[in-house]
Amino acid sequence: MNSHNHLVDAFQRTVNYLRVSVTDRCNLRCRYCMTSHTRWLPKGAILTLEEIERLVGIGVGLGITKVRLTGGEPLCRKGIVDLIARLSKLNGLQDLTLTTNGTLLAQKAAALKEAGLRRINISLDTMDAAGFFNITGLNLLDTVWQGIVQAAAAGFNPIKINCVVMRGSNEDQIVPLAELTRSQPFHVRFIEYMPIAVDPHSAKSRFVPMADVQQRLEKLGALIPLPSKNGDGPARRFRFQDAPGELGFISSMSEHFCSRCNRIRLTADGHLRPCLLADEQVDVMGALRAGAGDEEIAAIFAKALAMKQGEHRLSFGGNCQLRTKMTDIGG
Ligand code: 5AD
Ligand code: SF4
Repeated sequence: MNSHNHLVDAFQRTVNYLRVSVTDRCNLRCRYCMTSHTRWLPKGAILTLEEIERLVGIGVGLGITKVRLTGGEPLCRKGIVDLIARLSKLNGLQDLTLTTNGTLLAQKAAALKEAGLRRINISLDTMDAAGFFNITGLNLLDTVWQGIVQAAAAGFNPIKINCVVMRGSNEDQIVPLAELTRSQPFHVRFIEYMPIAVDPHSAKSRFVPMADVQQRLEKLGALIPLPSKNGDGPARRFRFQDAPGELGFISSMSEHFCSRCNRIRLTADGHLRPCLLADEQVDVMGALRAGAGDEEIAAIFAKALAMKQGEHRLSFGGNCQLRTKMTDIGG
Protein backbone atom coordinates (compact mmCIF):
# COMPACT_ATOMS: atom_id res chain seq x y z
CA MET A 1 0.00 0.00 0.00
CA ASN A 2 1.03 3.54 -0.68
CA SER A 3 2.00 5.30 2.53
CA HIS A 4 0.84 8.59 1.04
CA ASN A 5 -2.60 7.26 0.36
CA HIS A 6 -5.37 9.47 1.68
CA LEU A 7 -8.12 7.37 0.21
CA VAL A 8 -9.26 5.00 2.94
CA ASP A 9 -12.95 4.23 3.28
CA ALA A 10 -15.16 3.55 6.29
CA PHE A 11 -14.27 -0.16 6.08
CA GLN A 12 -10.54 0.47 6.19
CA ARG A 13 -10.14 -0.38 2.53
CA THR A 14 -7.45 1.61 0.77
CA VAL A 15 -8.52 2.84 -2.65
CA ASN A 16 -5.66 3.16 -5.13
CA TYR A 17 -7.38 2.20 -8.38
CA LEU A 18 -9.39 4.68 -10.46
CA ARG A 19 -11.43 3.51 -13.43
CA VAL A 20 -12.23 6.29 -15.86
CA SER A 21 -14.99 6.12 -18.45
CA VAL A 22 -13.80 8.44 -21.22
CA THR A 23 -16.95 8.21 -23.32
CA ASP A 24 -20.44 6.70 -23.13
CA ARG A 25 -20.32 6.03 -26.87
CA CYS A 26 -19.58 2.72 -28.49
CA ASN A 27 -19.39 1.35 -32.01
CA LEU A 28 -20.84 -2.02 -30.97
CA ARG A 29 -24.33 -2.79 -29.68
CA CYS A 30 -23.80 -5.67 -27.30
CA ARG A 31 -27.21 -6.97 -26.38
CA TYR A 32 -26.46 -7.02 -22.70
CA CYS A 33 -25.23 -3.46 -22.69
CA MET A 34 -27.26 -1.37 -25.13
CA THR A 35 -30.59 -1.25 -26.88
CA SER A 36 -31.71 0.68 -29.95
CA HIS A 37 -33.10 3.19 -27.43
CA THR A 38 -29.70 3.93 -25.97
CA ARG A 39 -28.98 7.64 -26.55
CA TRP A 40 -25.55 9.25 -26.37
CA LEU A 41 -24.89 12.10 -24.02
CA PRO A 42 -24.43 15.49 -25.72
CA LYS A 43 -20.81 16.49 -26.06
CA GLY A 44 -20.98 19.27 -23.47
CA ALA A 45 -22.23 16.78 -20.88
CA ILE A 46 -19.06 14.72 -20.86
CA LEU A 47 -15.71 15.60 -19.36
CA THR A 48 -13.18 17.17 -21.70
CA LEU A 49 -9.81 15.47 -21.96
CA GLU A 50 -8.27 18.34 -20.00
CA GLU A 51 -10.83 17.84 -17.22
CA ILE A 52 -10.11 14.12 -17.13
CA GLU A 53 -6.40 14.83 -16.93
CA ARG A 54 -6.89 17.27 -14.05
CA LEU A 55 -9.14 14.90 -12.09
CA VAL A 56 -6.82 11.94 -12.56
CA GLY A 57 -3.90 14.15 -11.48
CA ILE A 58 -5.71 15.10 -8.29
CA GLY A 59 -6.58 11.44 -7.68
CA VAL A 60 -2.95 10.44 -8.11
CA GLY A 61 -1.99 13.13 -5.63
CA LEU A 62 -4.36 11.52 -3.15
CA GLY A 63 -2.97 8.01 -3.58
CA ILE A 64 -4.31 6.56 -6.83
CA THR A 65 -1.53 4.45 -8.39
CA LYS A 66 -3.49 2.58 -11.05
CA VAL A 67 -5.81 3.97 -13.71
CA ARG A 68 -7.89 2.05 -16.22
CA LEU A 69 -9.60 3.82 -19.11
CA THR A 70 -12.94 2.38 -20.16
CA GLY A 71 -16.08 3.49 -22.00
CA GLY A 72 -18.39 2.89 -23.81
CA GLU A 73 -15.52 2.20 -26.13
CA PRO A 74 -12.53 4.31 -25.07
CA LEU A 75 -10.89 4.13 -28.51
CA CYS A 76 -13.96 5.91 -29.93
CA ARG A 77 -12.96 9.01 -27.98
CA LYS A 78 -11.10 11.54 -30.14
CA GLY A 79 -7.75 12.41 -28.62
CA ILE A 80 -7.51 9.24 -26.54
CA VAL A 81 -3.88 8.60 -27.54
CA ASP A 82 -2.94 12.14 -26.44
CA LEU A 83 -4.75 11.69 -23.16
CA ILE A 84 -2.81 8.49 -22.53
CA ALA A 85 0.47 10.22 -23.38
CA ARG A 86 -0.32 12.93 -20.83
CA LEU A 87 -1.55 10.60 -18.12
CA SER A 88 1.45 8.33 -18.51
CA LYS A 89 3.65 11.22 -17.43
CA LEU A 90 1.85 11.72 -14.11
CA ASN A 91 4.24 11.27 -11.27
CA GLY A 92 3.04 8.51 -8.96
CA LEU A 93 0.88 6.72 -11.50
CA GLN A 94 2.37 3.22 -11.71
CA ASP A 95 -0.09 1.48 -13.95
CA LEU A 96 -2.12 2.82 -16.88
CA THR A 97 -4.40 0.35 -18.61
CA LEU A 98 -7.30 0.23 -21.05
CA THR A 99 -10.34 -1.96 -21.60
CA THR A 100 -11.46 -2.08 -25.21
CA ASN A 101 -13.77 -4.03 -27.48
CA GLY A 102 -10.82 -4.36 -29.85
CA THR A 103 -12.56 -3.10 -32.99
CA LEU A 104 -10.26 -0.08 -33.40
CA LEU A 105 -7.19 -1.68 -31.90
CA ALA A 106 -5.43 -2.90 -35.04
CA GLN A 107 -4.81 0.67 -36.24
CA LYS A 108 -4.16 2.12 -32.77
CA ALA A 109 -2.13 -0.53 -30.92
CA ALA A 110 1.32 0.78 -31.81
CA ALA A 111 0.40 4.40 -31.01
CA LEU A 112 -1.11 3.37 -27.68
CA LYS A 113 2.05 1.53 -26.72
CA GLU A 114 4.14 4.49 -27.80
CA ALA A 115 1.98 6.84 -25.73
CA GLY A 116 2.84 4.88 -22.60
CA LEU A 117 -0.14 2.57 -22.13
CA ARG A 118 1.02 -0.38 -20.03
CA ARG A 119 -1.57 -3.07 -20.53
CA ILE A 120 -4.73 -3.86 -22.47
CA ASN A 121 -7.87 -5.87 -21.75
CA ILE A 122 -9.94 -6.89 -24.72
CA SER A 123 -13.58 -7.89 -24.37
CA LEU A 124 -14.32 -10.90 -26.51
CA ASP A 125 -17.28 -13.12 -25.70
CA THR A 126 -16.99 -15.50 -28.63
CA MET A 127 -14.63 -16.87 -31.29
CA ASP A 128 -17.56 -17.67 -33.56
CA ALA A 129 -18.39 -15.16 -36.30
CA ALA A 130 -22.14 -15.71 -36.25
CA GLY A 131 -22.15 -15.66 -32.45
CA PHE A 132 -20.18 -12.41 -32.48
CA PHE A 133 -22.75 -10.82 -34.76
CA ASN A 134 -25.52 -12.09 -32.55
CA ILE A 135 -24.06 -10.59 -29.39
CA THR A 136 -22.61 -7.32 -30.71
CA GLY A 137 -24.81 -6.52 -33.72
CA LEU A 138 -21.80 -6.16 -36.03
CA ASN A 139 -19.74 -8.53 -38.13
CA LEU A 140 -16.39 -7.56 -36.68
CA LEU A 141 -14.91 -10.72 -35.21
CA ASP A 142 -11.99 -10.69 -37.67
CA THR A 143 -11.38 -7.01 -36.99
CA VAL A 144 -11.18 -7.68 -33.26
CA TRP A 145 -8.88 -10.64 -33.84
CA GLN A 146 -6.61 -8.38 -35.93
CA GLY A 147 -6.69 -5.96 -33.02
CA ILE A 148 -5.51 -8.67 -30.66
CA VAL A 149 -2.76 -9.73 -33.07
CA GLN A 150 -1.59 -6.12 -33.50
CA ALA A 151 -1.67 -5.48 -29.75
CA ALA A 152 0.58 -8.50 -29.25
CA ALA A 153 2.85 -7.31 -32.07
CA ALA A 154 3.07 -3.86 -30.46
CA GLY A 155 4.45 -5.55 -27.36
CA PHE A 156 1.51 -5.50 -24.97
CA ASN A 157 2.05 -8.31 -22.53
CA PRO A 158 0.09 -9.90 -21.07
CA ILE A 159 -2.96 -9.42 -23.23
CA LYS A 160 -6.09 -10.13 -21.26
CA ILE A 161 -9.21 -11.35 -23.01
CA ASN A 162 -12.44 -10.95 -21.05
CA CYS A 163 -15.46 -13.11 -21.76
CA VAL A 164 -18.83 -12.57 -20.10
CA VAL A 165 -20.46 -16.00 -19.95
CA MET A 166 -24.16 -16.12 -20.83
CA ARG A 167 -26.39 -19.16 -20.75
CA GLY A 168 -27.92 -20.00 -24.10
CA SER A 169 -25.64 -17.51 -25.85
CA ASN A 170 -21.89 -18.15 -25.68
CA GLU A 171 -21.60 -21.11 -23.31
CA ASP A 172 -20.27 -23.15 -26.22
CA GLN A 173 -17.36 -20.67 -26.41
CA ILE A 174 -15.96 -21.41 -22.96
CA VAL A 175 -13.88 -24.28 -24.30
CA PRO A 176 -12.54 -22.62 -27.48
CA LEU A 177 -11.63 -19.45 -25.60
CA ALA A 178 -9.89 -21.43 -22.85
CA GLU A 179 -8.06 -23.53 -25.47
CA LEU A 180 -6.51 -20.33 -26.82
CA THR A 181 -4.31 -20.25 -23.72
CA ARG A 182 -2.62 -23.49 -24.82
CA SER A 183 -1.28 -21.90 -27.99
CA GLN A 184 -1.07 -18.18 -27.08
CA PRO A 185 0.33 -16.29 -24.09
CA PHE A 186 -3.06 -14.66 -23.52
CA HIS A 187 -4.83 -14.42 -20.19
CA VAL A 188 -8.40 -15.51 -20.85
CA ARG A 189 -10.74 -14.47 -18.08
CA PHE A 190 -14.33 -15.56 -17.67
CA ILE A 191 -16.69 -13.14 -15.98
CA GLU A 192 -20.06 -13.76 -14.38
CA TYR A 193 -22.93 -11.96 -15.99
CA MET A 194 -24.18 -9.20 -13.68
CA PRO A 195 -27.76 -7.92 -13.62
CA ILE A 196 -26.84 -4.41 -14.70
CA ALA A 197 -28.14 -5.36 -18.07
CA VAL A 198 -30.57 -3.39 -20.15
CA ASP A 199 -32.97 -6.24 -19.47
CA PRO A 200 -32.42 -7.36 -15.88
CA HIS A 201 -35.14 -9.99 -16.21
CA SER A 202 -33.23 -11.92 -18.81
CA ALA A 203 -30.08 -11.60 -16.72
CA LYS A 204 -31.15 -14.24 -14.24
CA SER A 205 -31.80 -16.92 -16.85
CA ARG A 206 -28.51 -16.06 -18.53
CA PHE A 207 -26.40 -16.30 -15.40
CA VAL A 208 -23.74 -19.02 -15.30
CA PRO A 209 -21.82 -19.35 -12.03
CA MET A 210 -18.01 -19.50 -12.32
CA ALA A 211 -18.01 -22.85 -10.52
CA ASP A 212 -19.81 -24.27 -13.61
CA VAL A 213 -17.31 -22.72 -16.00
CA GLN A 214 -14.41 -24.10 -14.00
CA GLN A 215 -15.97 -27.55 -13.88
CA ARG A 216 -16.38 -27.62 -17.64
CA LEU A 217 -12.74 -26.68 -18.13
CA GLU A 218 -11.46 -29.24 -15.65
CA LYS A 219 -12.68 -31.89 -18.09
CA LEU A 220 -10.10 -30.66 -20.59
CA GLY A 221 -7.17 -31.11 -18.25
CA ALA A 222 -5.93 -30.25 -14.78
CA LEU A 223 -6.19 -26.57 -13.88
CA ILE A 224 -3.02 -25.61 -12.07
CA PRO A 225 -3.71 -22.82 -9.57
CA LEU A 226 -1.47 -19.76 -9.80
CA PRO A 227 -0.65 -17.63 -6.79
CA SER A 228 -2.50 -14.34 -6.79
CA LYS A 229 -0.22 -11.41 -7.37
CA ASN A 230 -0.66 -7.83 -6.33
CA GLY A 231 -2.66 -6.10 -9.02
CA ASP A 232 -4.46 -9.27 -10.12
CA GLY A 233 -7.71 -7.89 -8.96
CA PRO A 234 -10.51 -10.30 -8.30
CA ALA A 235 -9.57 -13.07 -10.76
CA ARG A 236 -8.75 -16.55 -9.49
CA ARG A 237 -5.95 -17.68 -11.79
CA PHE A 238 -5.06 -21.06 -13.27
CA ARG A 239 -3.30 -22.56 -16.22
CA PHE A 240 -3.31 -25.78 -18.16
CA GLN A 241 -0.14 -27.88 -17.96
CA ASP A 242 2.59 -26.32 -20.16
CA ALA A 243 0.23 -23.66 -21.48
CA PRO A 244 1.80 -20.29 -22.37
CA GLY A 245 -1.39 -18.47 -21.41
CA GLU A 246 -3.52 -18.52 -18.31
CA LEU A 247 -7.12 -18.66 -17.21
CA GLY A 248 -8.97 -16.41 -14.79
CA PHE A 249 -12.35 -16.72 -13.13
CA ILE A 250 -14.16 -13.60 -11.93
CA SER A 251 -17.18 -14.39 -9.81
CA SER A 252 -18.64 -10.96 -9.20
CA MET A 253 -22.01 -12.40 -8.23
CA SER A 254 -21.60 -15.86 -6.72
CA GLU A 255 -18.78 -14.96 -4.40
CA HIS A 256 -18.17 -11.25 -4.41
CA PHE A 257 -14.87 -9.68 -3.50
CA CYS A 258 -16.15 -6.44 -2.01
CA SER A 259 -14.03 -6.80 1.12
CA ARG A 260 -10.91 -6.45 -1.05
CA CYS A 261 -12.30 -3.63 -3.19
CA ASN A 262 -9.71 -0.95 -3.98
CA ARG A 263 -11.59 0.96 -6.67
CA ILE A 264 -13.49 4.08 -7.40
CA ARG A 265 -14.89 5.22 -10.73
CA LEU A 266 -15.12 8.42 -12.71
CA THR A 267 -18.03 8.45 -15.14
CA ALA A 268 -17.95 10.00 -18.60
CA ASP A 269 -20.41 12.67 -17.43
CA GLY A 270 -18.22 13.71 -14.54
CA HIS A 271 -19.38 11.87 -11.45
CA LEU A 272 -17.35 9.93 -8.94
CA ARG A 273 -18.90 6.55 -8.27
CA PRO A 274 -17.97 4.60 -5.17
CA CYS A 275 -19.11 1.29 -6.65
CA LEU A 276 -19.92 -0.24 -10.03
CA LEU A 277 -22.88 -2.04 -8.57
CA ALA A 278 -24.62 0.81 -6.77
CA ASP A 279 -26.39 3.85 -8.16
CA GLU A 280 -24.90 6.40 -5.76
CA GLN A 281 -22.55 8.97 -7.24
CA VAL A 282 -21.24 12.48 -6.61
CA ASP A 283 -21.01 15.22 -9.18
CA VAL A 284 -17.50 16.49 -9.70
CA MET A 285 -17.86 18.12 -13.12
CA GLY A 286 -20.09 20.86 -11.70
CA ALA A 287 -17.46 21.88 -9.19
CA LEU A 288 -14.75 21.67 -11.82
CA ARG A 289 -16.66 23.94 -14.22
CA ALA A 290 -17.45 26.36 -11.41
CA GLY A 291 -13.72 26.85 -10.98
CA ALA A 292 -13.08 24.69 -7.90
CA GLY A 293 -9.52 24.44 -6.66
CA ASP A 294 -7.69 21.16 -6.08
CA GLU A 295 -8.61 21.10 -2.38
CA GLU A 296 -12.28 21.32 -3.17
CA ILE A 297 -11.99 18.53 -5.71
CA ALA A 298 -10.06 16.43 -3.20
CA ALA A 299 -12.96 16.89 -0.79
CA ILE A 300 -15.30 15.47 -3.43
CA PHE A 301 -13.05 12.41 -3.74
CA ALA A 302 -13.28 12.06 0.06
CA LYS A 303 -17.05 12.31 -0.10
CA ALA A 304 -17.25 9.55 -2.73
CA LEU A 305 -14.95 7.38 -0.63
CA ALA A 306 -17.15 7.86 2.40
CA MET A 307 -20.10 6.63 0.34
CA LYS A 308 -18.53 3.25 -0.40
CA GLN A 309 -20.72 0.49 1.00
CA GLY A 310 -19.27 -2.57 2.68
CA GLU A 311 -20.56 -4.79 -0.07
CA HIS A 312 -22.83 -4.60 -3.09
CA ARG A 313 -26.46 -5.58 -2.65
CA LEU A 314 -27.07 -6.51 -6.21
CA SER A 315 -28.85 -9.79 -6.76
CA PHE A 316 -31.02 -11.45 -9.34
CA GLY A 317 -34.67 -10.56 -8.98
CA GLY A 318 -35.83 -8.65 -5.95
CA ASN A 319 -35.71 -4.90 -5.86
CA CYS A 320 -32.04 -4.15 -6.16
CA GLN A 321 -31.64 -3.71 -9.89
CA LEU A 322 -29.42 -0.85 -10.93
CA ARG A 323 -30.69 2.17 -12.78
CA THR A 324 -27.17 2.73 -13.98
CA LYS A 325 -26.13 1.93 -17.53
CA MET A 326 -22.87 0.11 -18.13
CA THR A 327 -21.84 2.63 -20.75
CA ASP A 328 -21.91 5.44 -18.19
CA ILE A 329 -19.62 3.70 -15.77
CA GLY A 330 -17.57 1.50 -18.03
CA GLY A 331 -17.48 -2.04 -16.70
N1 5AD B 1 -22.07 -8.36 -16.71
C1 5AD B 1 -20.74 -8.59 -16.78
N2 5AD B 1 -19.90 -7.90 -17.57
C2 5AD B 1 -20.44 -6.95 -18.37
N3 5AD B 1 -19.88 -6.12 -19.27
C3 5AD B 1 -20.84 -5.33 -19.79
N4 5AD B 1 -22.04 -5.63 -19.24
C4 5AD B 1 -21.82 -6.65 -18.35
C5 5AD B 1 -22.64 -7.41 -17.49
N5 5AD B 1 -23.95 -7.19 -17.40
C6 5AD B 1 -18.45 -6.15 -19.59
C7 5AD B 1 -18.16 -6.11 -21.05
C8 5AD B 1 -16.72 -5.70 -21.05
C9 5AD B 1 -16.57 -4.88 -19.81
C10 5AD B 1 -16.30 -3.45 -20.08
O1 5AD B 1 -17.80 -5.02 -19.09
O2 5AD B 1 -18.28 -7.34 -21.67
O3 5AD B 1 -15.86 -6.81 -20.95
FE1 SF4 C 1 -19.75 -1.45 -26.46
FE2 SF4 C 1 -18.65 -2.80 -24.44
FE3 SF4 C 1 -21.25 -2.13 -24.37
FE4 SF4 C 1 -20.39 -3.97 -26.11
S1 SF4 C 1 -20.33 -4.13 -23.86
S2 SF4 C 1 -21.81 -2.27 -26.56
S3 SF4 C 1 -18.40 -3.23 -26.66
S4 SF4 C 1 -19.54 -0.73 -24.35
